[in-house]
Amino acid sequence: MRFEDRVAIVTGGSRGIGKQICLKLASEGAKIAIFDIEETLLKEVAEQIRHMGSEVLLLRVDISDFEKVDRAVKEVIDRFGRIDILVNNAGVNEDKLLLRMREKDWDKVLQVNLKGTFNCLRAVIRTMVKQRRGKIINISSVVGLRGNAGQANYAASKAGIIGLTKSAAKEVGRYGVIVNAIAPGFIDTPMTEKLQEKEREMFTPQIPLGRMGKSEEVASLVAYLASDEANYITGEVIKIDGGMAI
Ligand SMILES: NC(=O)c1ccc[n+]([C@@H]2O[C@H](COP(=O)([O-])OP(=O)(O)OC[C@H]3O[C@@H](n4cnc5c(N)ncnc54)[C@H](O)[C@@H]3O)[C@@H](O)[C@H]2O)c1
Repeated sequence: MRFEDRVAIVTGGSRGIGKQICLKLASEGAKIAIFDIEETLLKEVAEQIRHMGSEVLLLRVDISDFEKVDRAVKEVIDRFGRIDILVNNAGVNEDKLLLRMREKDWDKVLQVNLKGTFNCLRAVIRTMVKQRRGKIINISSVVGLRGNAGQANYAASKAGIIGLTKSAAKEVGRYGVIVNAIAPGFIDTPMTEKLQEKEREMFTPQIPLGRMGKSEEVASLVAYLASDEANYITGEVIKIDGGMAI
């Protein structure tokens, strides 16, 4: 039980990668607080976590709202007394070629993905510094490293997360707070279900391992980074993409 008595906040835990992160951390003893805008699916995840014998706190919060995130983090501290792990997982996409991209497509993706990550990190950092301990794991994307036609807004938000991760790691390392990013490739989730069969067929041959990744595989990497086994890794961006971005 790597996370016995540890408290984790996971954003976007109602489905996809975030759900598997919640289940993985809970299965190894963590108490989980989930920040999400979804409700029905979230209750199902909470049920599964309770079934494992772990505690869970559901907070309906839009991570792009600075004040609401701050209040939600205070609720987590009131309930559990500390925060050991923050996983900034919630994210959205509004894919369009630049010629068609509207201001609102840009703003929405940057507000949720980049500002939302900042809001959560900003809200927990003081507590983690005081504790002289904390792990922050930001979910970026290989698209943030390589760019992608039709995803300029998403790629910019994910590249921004990498800059935020490295800067935060430099600022808070001396206080025992560790900050890393994960860059998934093509993972089978509700986000990628939106893609047409044709697009999926186009991507798969570009992956040396010949298949999409699973949310559980990303969750295992998150758990490793959140655990004491990874206490000497900070400011890194770890790809999990079946070799797609070699
Ligand atoms: N699926 C992939 O191939 C892939 C690849 C690289 C990176 N990622 C990243 O991994 C993360 C999870 O992706 P996924 O595929 O599981 O996505 P998903 O769409 O299946 O789940 C996203 C979750 O975030 C929540 N969410 C959305 N907006 C929110 C907001 N404003 N406030 C709070 N919660 C909000 C949703 O309700 C949902 O629970 C995202 O950051 C995504 O960009 C995914």
